[in-house]
Amino acid sequence: MRRLPPVLIEDGCPRDLLSLIRTILAACKEISFRVSQGELSGVLGSTLDENIQGETQKKLDVLSNQLLKDILLESGYVKAIASEEEDYTVAGNPDAEYIVAFDPLDGSSNTDINSLVGTIFSIMKAPKDKAADDQSIFMQAGKHQVAAGYVLYGPSTMLALTIGKGTRLFTLDRTHGSFLLTEDKVTIPEDTKEFAINASNQRHWLAPMQNYIADCLAGEEGPRKKNFNMRWIACMVGDVHRLLCRGGLFTYPEDTKNPEKPFKLRLLYEANPMAMLVEQAGGVAYAGLDRILDIEPQEIHQRVAVTMGSKNEVEICLDYHK
Ligand code: AHG
Ligand code: MN
Ligand code: MN
Ligand code: MN
Repeated sequence: MRRLPPVLIEDGCPRDLLSLIRTILAACKEISFRVSQGELSGVLGSTLDENIQGETQKKLDVLSNQLLKDILLESGYVKAIASEEEDYTVAGNPDAEYIVAFDPLDGSSNTDINSLVGTIFSIMKAPKDKAADDQSIFMQAGKHQVAAGYVLYGPSTMLALTIGKGTRLFTLDRTHGSFLLTEDKVTIPEDTKEFAINASNQRHWLAPMQNYIADCLAGEEGPRKKNFNMRWIACMVGDVHRLLCRGGLFTYPEDTKNPEKPFKLRLLYEANPMAMLVEQAGGVAYAGLDRILDIEPQEIHQRVAVTMGSKNEVEICLDYHK
């Protein structure tokens, strides 16, 4: 089986981008090890701190963030980083070519139940005319990402990666510590009978989403005339991985639970990299009626509605919103 570096070199991946990706993966391998040790590595449970998102930080959120931050800043490959767990962007090497936004540990509510968690990353070119400590360095639409990926810490540790030439899956071979190519050309089927949504928020959704899900649930007797299955892992990496493996629709829609926070998922760390992976696999990704990758960010922790996955099903869902 082919290892990651030669696969990317064949695709024409610049050497410094490849080195940056390998740097991120070095931290992910360490996170993978700590996650797999569970209680034995003393990293389960919460801290007493709250992050900028207003969430209580898990010990693994803090540890994963520190591992990624340290290795990226020491590497010299990044001009700046932005993380879900950091209040502000952090400046790196002023001469570096790239910037990285990341969600160090996605699905942290799953840490204490030995269920799926992951790391999500987004790589963009660093604008030459901006200082490394200028927050606006990250105000670029997702279509400008040069690479995006996630590492899923599951029964096996897997990497989904795109450098804009399709989406590939790699599996971590623990005997060598290398990522081996296990799916060369991920293709999301256009149709599906599976959706993923946190149904406990149903009463807070807007009318179009209420109607769309109600029609899915009505099954063969309803207007959709087919039976749907529902899956929800509560870890976006796990839920998007299912989209890449067998299609489906994943959504975290706008809701009215907290009028100050109508959206849950973050544009830079979650929506953008996942949208690139999904589009590169033939799927589509929207925030409301806007293509996620076209959104011009206004601030680093910006949140958006997310609906992504199988093209035809996502478009049916969008039709309810028009
Ligand atoms: P994070 O753990 O990085 O804060 O992200 C959690 C996100 C995402 O993974 C998932 O889709 C969603 O939050 C789960 O939210 P619910 O609490 O509504 O299940
Ligand atoms: Mn979080
Ligand atoms: Mn997350
Ligand atoms: Mn997170």
